Amino acid sequence: MDYFVISGGNRLRGSLSVSGSKNASLPIMAAAILTEGETVLRNVPDLADIQHMMKLLTLLGVNVSRDADGTMRLRVVDEQNCHAEYELVRKMRASVCVMGPLLAKRHTAQVSMPGGCAIGDRPIDLHVQGLRTLGAEVELTSGDVLLRAKRLKSAEVFMGGPFGSTVLGTANVLMAAVLADGSSIIESAACEPEVIDLADYLIACGARITGHGTPRIVVEGVKTLHGCDWTVIPDRIEAGTLMVASAITNGEIALKNCRLDHLMAAIDRFRAIGIVVERDADGIVVSSARRLEPTIITTQPYPGFPTDLQAQFMTLLTMADGNSVITEKIFPDRFLHVAELTRMGARLRKEGPTVIIEGVKRLVGAPVMASDLRASAALVLAGLIAKGQTRISRVYHLDRGYQRFDEKLNSVGADIKRLVE
Ligand code: EPZ
Repeated sequence: MDYFVISGGNRLRGSLSVSGSKNASLPIMAAAILTEGETVLRNVPDLADIQHMMKLLTLLGVNVSRDADGTMRLRVVDEQNCHAEYELVRKMRASVCVMGPLLAKRHTAQVSMPGGCAIGDRPIDLHVQGLRTLGAEVELTSGDVLLRAKRLKSAEVFMGGPFGSTVLGTANVLMAAVLADGSSIIESAACEPEVIDLADYLIACGARITGHGTPRIVVEGVKTLHGCDWTVIPDRIEAGTLMVASAITNGEIALKNCRLDHLMAAIDRFRAIGIVVERDADGIVVSSARRLEPTIITTQPYPGFPTDLQAQFMTLLTMADGNSVITEKIFPDRFLHVAELTRMGARLRKEGPTVIIEGVKRLVGAPVMASDLRASAALVLAGLIAKGQTRISRVYHLDRGYQRFDEKLNSVGADIKRLVE
């Protein structure tokens, strides 16, 4: 297993290009199940999670290949297998987003319940309830959800849950509704840019969708969908993570292929902390040359502050002049990074879904362990500024969602060694 040894203290300077969005790519790849003909996907990042989805789709009868330049081609060649098995789903929860397309196109879907993960329970009750509203018969059988529908019927589907809407639940219901008879409404839909990108891809394949990006999406069902040539949006969470890397090292990084409009909540907090974020010809420049101000952050559904940047901002705020407060409203248990940052000298106090961060002068390098994807990124960011060396084990968690993250950071002045245990 790979591990990192990071020598802290370097200021990062230079320019980086943001990779394509993991969380846009995964549902769009699954949506290819709905189409007849070839889909060409560009700007799909080269990540473990993407390879995992390629493997799952291959088992589901989709021919998936990648050219040398990373261009992905998908074409359905066999519709027999409709079972996404536990062995695959348990390793990547996002596999559940094959449920809607399998049901709509093949009239049956058997998907393993994903079970919990490092950031907490990951129920799919809203996904199942939404698909049932569209006419699916649902059965639970030995850990799998089995859905059947001869023909899905249009309906008004409410996607709101105790923590707001659901991103992949909205994706599943949207992908089912595009082939249902008649006009459906998805109320309390997720508004994330990744849902917008999925809807835009489906429209390019012949679907009839309006309102995507707002809480109310209207879908006119169509009979069939063709393939298309689609370029996936940039990864706003990778962009936000690289912005923190610039800010925390008092550096200056220019980010290319970065959609500023997808990062307004994060930019609002960067500016509150005293970080300079400016547009330039290719994207944005993030710099910080002063002590950081403490601030208050509460994670919300988009366009609120993204839960996927919570851990990274916690690392940043360990360096602020004073006490900050972070409240996690999407995944209340998403604090695996707290104990590891504490090992590095951070002063954090968790009170339920809230953590109080007392700013310190320095973090100190220590052996720490990566856990979930974004907590791993938070530990790398801490290693960049910690005194001495930080050893991060289990970096495979990081490789799930960041394309060659160590190489990117080293190219702007970091000192990260990737070694094998
Ligand atoms: C997507 O997960 C992202 N993953 C997550 O990013 C992201 O953190 C999350 O959205 C929230 O923005 C992908 O897109 C592949 P949800 P998703 O359903 O769709 C509860 C990363 O680091 N809920 O929007 O699975 C749920 O427990 C990953 O890239 C139900 O109660 O998240 C959570 O509290 C981590 N019932 C809240 O809703 C359901 O049926 C939001 O979850 C579904 C969800």
